[in-house]
Amino acid sequence: MNAKLRPLVPAFALLVIGLIALGVAWYSVVNAPENAAASSIRERFSLVDQTGKRVTEADFAGRPHLVFFGFTHCPDVCPTTLYELSTIFGELGDDAGKIDVIFISVDPERDTPQSMAEYVSSFGPQFTGLTGTKEEIAAVAKDFKVYYRKVPLEGNDYTIDHTAVVYLFNRRGEFVAPFNAKRPASEAAAELRKLL
Ligand code: NI
Repeated sequence: MNAKLRPLVPAFALLVIGLIALGVAWYSVVNAPENAAASSIRERFSLVDQTGKRVTEADFAGRPHLVFFGFTHCPDVCPTTLYELSTIFGELGDDAGKIDVIFISVDPERDTPQSMAEYVSSFGPQFTGLTGTKEEIAAVAKDFKVYYRKVPLEGNDYTIDHTAVVYLFNRRGEFVAPFNAKRPASEAAAELRKLL
């Protein structure tokens, strides 16, 4: 090796190591499932609510809101999560009317506005149920980095595996963090109150 270049070798090696480390760090941030929700979520949708009206994210601007994906035939995760949220809203008292819960269907084939209306009404007036075409739902799920997959059951029936993250948005429609509904309702309610 040229004697003049020799001093540059350690610096070059360091640069390469640095770049690799940066690449690994970036890769893990982008791909780690637990970070999927924490990376920027863009709230953008045009879907039909439980009254049959088309709504977009602009209809929820100015108010903090929670967004959760699921389906009305869900046997466990959805009803449990929505029940936890309704308990937290009970804890909010008068402030409950200042925050929205948006439940977006990942089962557009079965979840009509009517079935969404029946379903969300059992959890409280703050709950909006949104559905749409298969394509519309796929686009929204992609933006929220929500995974869902149809799983066949016996007798022509099916269930749907899906991401169960509750997304918290502030009044400006910016994603804040995944919202933990599995804790004392008073604690969860306090986090929501901070956004008012
Ligand atoms: Ni579910």
